Amino acid sequence: MILLRNLKDEDIKEAHSLGNICYPLDLHESLESFQWRFKIYSEGCRGAWVDNVLCGYIVAHIWKLNEIVYLNDDSYGLPKDADCMYIHDVAIHPLYHNKHLGSRLVSDIITLAVCKNIYNFAGVAIKSTEGYWKRWGFSVEREFYYTVNVPAFYMTCKKIPLWRG
Ligand SMILES: CC(C)(COP(=O)(O)OP(=O)(O)OC[C@H]1O[C@@H](n2cnc3c(N)ncnc32)[C@H](O)[C@@H]1OP(=O)(O)O)[C@@H](O)C(=O)NCCC(=O)NCCS
Repeated sequence: MILLRNLKDEDIKEAHSLGNICYPLDLHESLESFQWRFKIYSEGCRGAWVDNVLCGYIVAHIWKLNEIVYLNDDSYGLPKDADCMYIHDVAIHPLYHNKHLGSRLVSDIITLAVCKNIYNFAGVAIKSTEGYWKRWGFSVEREFYYTVNVPAFYMTCKKIPLWRG
């Protein structure tokens, strides 16, 4: 059975550990920064459970277009004049890839944004996932180094993202 729901306080450590399984070491974030994003915008933090096992999560929050949220930043606040939904992190356990869990979580965040009258979306894609976001309708705005070893793309979608199957 698949369950999607908002993360709760007691899920955060497990979700953080799952992120460490899903990402290479260079992209690991501190537990503090994960907790921080949950603290400032818990409604943008959702998880996907399959048979009661957490298999994926998404972390998003309102933000400003053209501004990147860097890894391991655990001290920023949300802007009062937010104009986009920033998808900071979506991660699915490798055993559960291509079962639409990622798409369902992204869809939930799109719905959340639309409910708040937000129609711009942004995020960072590492090179291997640029194609995934392009299929949602995101375009590359600029390339930069997310960490010293990891080139990445800042991407935006200035309309409601729609998956191109
Ligand atoms: C990228 C990720 C979130 C996708 O989630 P998922 O649940 O496996 O994907 P879904 O089942 O929703 O979608 C599957 C579709 O996306 C496509 N897809 C998956 N990863 C892709 C990629 N990196 N590039 C292009 N297309 C991709 C699949 O080919 C499939 O297409 P199809 O429906 O035409 O067969 C997942 O692979 C993941 O967690 N990766 C590691 C963490 C990461 O890099 N996250 C993104 C950066 S924020």
